[in-house]
Amino acid sequence: NAQDATITVKPSKDAPTISKHIYGHFAEHLGRSIYDGFFVGKDSPIPNTDGVRNDLIEALKEIKIPNLRWPGGCFADTYHWKDGIGPQEDRPTIVNTWWGGVTEDNSFGTHDFLNLCEVLETEPYLAGNVGSGTVKELADWVQYVNHDGTSPMADLRKQNGREKSWGVTYWGVGNEMWGCGGNMEPEFYANLYRQYATFMGSWNNEAGLYRIASGANSADYNWTEVLMKNIPKSLLDGVALHHYSVIDWNKKGPDVDFTEDHYFTTMKSSLFMDQLITKHVAIMDKYDKKKEVDLVVDEWGGWYEVQEGTNPGFLYQQNTMRDAMIAGTTLNIFNNHSDRVKMANLAQTVNVLQAVALTKGEQMILTPTYHILKMYTVHHDAQLIPLDLDTPDYEYNGDTLPAISASASKDAEGKTHISLVNIDAHKENTVSIDLSALNIKDFSAEILASDKLQDHNSFEDPEHIMPEGFKDFKFKKGVLEVTLPAFSVVVLEGK
Ligand code: AHR
Repeated sequence: NAQDATITVKPSKDAPTISKHIYGHFAEHLGRSIYDGFFVGKDSPIPNTDGVRNDLIEALKEIKIPNLRWPGGCFADTYHWKDGIGPQEDRPTIVNTWWGGVTEDNSFGTHDFLNLCEVLETEPYLAGNVGSGTVKELADWVQYVNHDGTSPMADLRKQNGREKSWGVTYWGVGNEMWGCGGNMEPEFYANLYRQYATFMGSWNNEAGLYRIASGANSADYNWTEVLMKNIPKSLLDGVALHHYSVIDWNKKGPDVDFTEDHYFTTMKSSLFMDQLITKHVAIMDKYDKKKEVDLVVDEWGGWYEVQEGTNPGFLYQQNTMRDAMIAGTTLNIFNNHSDRVKMANLAQTVNVLQAVALTKGEQMILTPTYHILKMYTVHHDAQLIPLDLDTPDYEYNGDTLPAISASASKDAEGKTHISLVNIDAHKENTVSIDLSALNIKDFSAEILASDKLQDHNSFEDPEHIMPEGFKDFKFKKGVLEVTLPAFSVVVLEGK
């Protein structure tokens, strides 16, 4: 049963640029993310660059990874960066109290991470320790990585083999300060933030520092209100927000063998991102009419029960077409809010939560989420084309969700891209897009779809879900009619 959705494009010279940083990633010392994910060690038989697996480096370059957040997450507020520099034999161990209680040897530290970012040609985003660190420790970290002159930390860096500073722009001042970062009240954290941000300095980094305050837990609007009210804008570049697509924190449901009920509830939580951003932004607007402070959604993604037989503290889950629906709709939401949302980080890159890659020994597979990120690279730094969307509902058990999600942009070469998602678990949907405001002659398209929502790529069948060429559209008299199969993502290119 085809239904109808309609879209009208509203191109505007004043429309914002979709920052490529909306397509950022996150790698924490958690489970098999760093150790046995990114980092296999220099002596590994797995081909690597300074210990980081080459297949992963290549895959991340393909999706033009714009930034990478590290070392946490909750881990960040337990991490003492000086433990991860200098000769390996002198590095102390650390017990990862948040994630599985494992002991690690600090063999992947600041140099390893920042050199990796150079190889990836991506911007590092360092999350500083506020919860169990000191102002001096964080100020020293900034000096260590960013100061080119003579100073105690710059000298130490040089002693450790790195002459030139890395010039790190993005800094998180603590993580989830309302929870694992120290269970603080927003007023207390706002004051702490002011203190930390003051002493971080900028140490020769030409771009200056971009300081991000640890943001709200989902719909905690008071958190954003207090930060916006109490922190001077001169100290604040971004305010964060964390929201996971989760069914129920006490009963998260399976990663693969989920029911339609699980699917519908996950999508409800995922689409809630739109309302969340709208409300947090309305608060920000009250204190910052000129939009000088950005909203940074530095953790998002689907969160389910771990794969059977794996350590519950390692958060290892498979990635299905449901995750492709989360990625496609969430990225559309970010694009459409790109006047205020300037950065976001999918949790997490490899082997943890909604990963883009999963590894097993020498093997690595790319997930449906990876393919969505790749299809959406066309939106990086392109100008948003605002849309009016009228969508049919996806109905389930007496409840409804909007079936269609969309966003559009125009890139520097003048090409138009439209990303469409149909989340309906059963029905195809036809979308009519009035493009008469744009001068387009030809379209080409790619689709990500599969037979079942639970379908995924596995180590036995790594290319089960792959983007394919798509032709189920007609373009007549400025109107594009696209028929989207149930639970599919289509990206169109018009020139
Ligand atoms: O991404 C996993 C965890 O989720 C992070 O460590 C924490 O910030 C959030 O609660």
